[in-house]
Amino acid sequence: MNNPSPSEPHPGAKPLRRHLVVGTGSIAHAHAAAVTAHAGRAAVVTAIDIDARRAEDFAAGHGIAHWSTDLAEALVARPDLAHVCTPPGSHVPLALQCVEAGVPVLLEKPPALSLAEIDRLLEASEVNGVEVAVVFQHRFGASGLKVRQLLQEGALGRPLVAVCDTLWYRPPEYFAVPWRGKWDVEGGGPTMGHGIHQFDLLLALMGGWTEVSAMAARLSRETATEDVSTALVRFDNGALATLVNSLLSPRETSLLRIDTERATVEVEHVYGYAKEDWRITPAPGHESVGDSLAAVTGGGRSCHQDQMGAVLDALDTGSPLPVPLREARDTLELVAAVYASAFTGRTVRKGEIGPGHPFYTRMDGTGAPWSGNLATEGASL
Ligand SMILES: NC(=O)c1ccc[n+]([C@@H]2O[C@H](COP(=O)([O-])OP(=O)(O)OC[C@H]3O[C@@H](n4cnc5c(N)ncnc54)[C@H](O)[C@@H]3O)[C@@H](O)[C@H]2O)c1
Repeated sequence: MNNPSPSEPHPGAKPLRRHLVVGTGSIAHAHAAAVTAHAGRAAVVTAIDIDARRAEDFAAGHGIAHWSTDLAEALVARPDLAHVCTPPGSHVPLALQCVEAGVPVLLEKPPALSLAEIDRLLEASEVNGVEVAVVFQHRFGASGLKVRQLLQEGALGRPLVAVCDTLWYRPPEYFAVPWRGKWDVEGGGPTMGHGIHQFDLLLALMGGWTEVSAMAARLSRETATEDVSTALVRFDNGALATLVNSLLSPRETSLLRIDTERATVEVEHVYGYAKEDWRITPAPGHESVGDSLAAVTGGGRSCHQDQMGAVLDALDTGSPLPVPLREARDTLELVAAVYASAFTGRTVRKGEIGPGHPFYTRMDGTGAPWSGNLATEGASL
């Protein structure tokens, strides 16, 4: 029997996955770099943008053979995965186009502008039997995965109290990009677009949530959306958490702290954590859990590359692509509940925002309290 030539895949070798990048702006570079980090397993074969110059420059910069402004044509070649990296308002329409063409999707956050939109995509994904996964890269850092395992196995005891702060700073110029700060195209402010990373990780670690009481305000930036929100969250397991989502905080930090029966587990970073950003402080009598992260190896800062590895593993094994759209819906429902509670002054329970509810089709429901007056003012309930 002849040996296979170097250009032929080795028997049993996994196929090289052909990726399509749709939207070649800022975050698309992280997607291309993440695929390149797994060269040999995957390659970006086509770049698409409505702006031809951007698509061409992006393709040249990343050594991508083809670029185009025509998504429909690119889908005919049936790539293995389409990365949707466009502004939030186009996520669901573009993902629907991919799904209906039989191409699985990796969708940037936030996955949709509303629960109604994500439900439409969920239905299309199920009807067509084509998966949609959502980018929440901080679930995939090596130490974050280890902490999740420790919590799920019960090694840290029951989670009791959590703090989840996304205190970031965005100057007024940041909102000059046309799609930012508007309900119709961004879908929300720091709750929807920024804190969502950290409280998605909180949900991945703590499990399901049951109710939310929240406040939101537009205190400083000339946006239609909020620039700060705060929330109290109760979990299925009885644990309580506070969330703060701000774009007004000059000393930036992303802080997640969970106090369990046996330890305090915490991570503090800004846009991605490394192993040294995590700390476990054992409760008296439980000293052995203190070095639970000692054996964790590998990984720089949690980033798209980590999630890309998990996505490629799932493609190879036929397991669900992470993070499945249905799980991402739980996170988006928490976003909707924060706005519904903040704008109505009521506690909102999981499952309450369904068809017919004003916050089902729009994150601002019947309108933010400050929407009648876009001059800068505090507006909280
Ligand atoms: N996961 C993360 O850490 C992270 C970080 C930053 C941004 N994001 C998300 O990534 C998305 C994109 O953000 P960005 O900062 O890269 O935006 P951007 O404005 O820099 O780039 C968006 C690109 O999409 C193109 N585009 C718009 N509509 C299109 C369409 N219908 N078809 C094809 N191309 C289209 C634009 O021409 C532009 O090149 C947003 O949803 C944002 O929230 C995620």
